[in-house]
Amino acid sequence: MNEPFNFSVEPRILVSKDLTELSNRAADHIASLITVDPFHFVLTGGSTPKALYKILSEKKLDWKNMQFFWGDERCVPSDHPDSNFGMALETLLNKISVDEDHVHRMKGEMEPPAAAFEYEKQLRNIFGGDAIPSFDLVLLGMGEDGHTASLFPGTPALKVQDRLVVDNYVEKLQATRLTMTFRLLNQAKRILFLVSGASKAFALQQVLEGEFDPLLYPSQGIRPVHGELLFFVDQEAASMLKRRP
Ligand code: 6PG
Repeated sequence: MNEPFNFSVEPRILVSKDLTELSNRAADHIASLITVDPFHFVLTGGSTPKALYKILSEKKLDWKNMQFFWGDERCVPSDHPDSNFGMALETLLNKISVDEDHVHRMKGEMEPPAAAFEYEKQLRNIFGGDAIPSFDLVLLGMGEDGHTASLFPGTPALKVQDRLVVDNYVEKLQATRLTMTFRLLNQAKRILFLVSGASKAFALQQVLEGEFDPLLYPSQGIRPVHGELLFFVDQEAASMLKRRP
């Protein structure tokens, strides 16, 4: 029986007509949030956020308070075409005035286990104390298989309870990725999914309305402990939802 999956908080689902409207609405929402100093902002990779990053780069925002992080990274150098850092540099960071020491990339060029430990150490140093860091905003995409960040179905990272950042071998990609864990992501004050396109419709319906099985649909594992969960989606991605938002 497909019980609707009960998120720890009820996600807010905002449906836009297309990726352009989705990106503009998400940019406006993000701009409204950037009031705290410092603002700890986790970026996502993939293609969906590119339009959003470009729109953000054109807004007159107080970027000096912003601290940038990445939810996941490919195990490649920062100048590699697959680098999530490289994509954000091109679409956003190179277009705004932000201090270099406010940009905290995962070092994809390092040996993956060492890179994961190094990033976790960076986070602990930046946030201080023993508490798990709580980001002001985490952006996430979602794959056609329901993965998010580099938390892919059936991969070891899904079961990690005692780490903030891990290296994660993804069989289907025949590649290792670096990723924040559910333990870290779910401490965020706000988590914002960006989901666009008909190819995501089935996975989105399963994630939002299907049985709870985060090993199969990792996006279901994103359940902010205290924070807000928003899905910015377009009509194509939302086309299979039974409960119209
Ligand atoms: C990555 C992302 C990944 C991405 C999804 C969706 O490193 O690629 O972190 O989780 O958000 O795969 O990608 P698209 O936006 O390209 O569909």
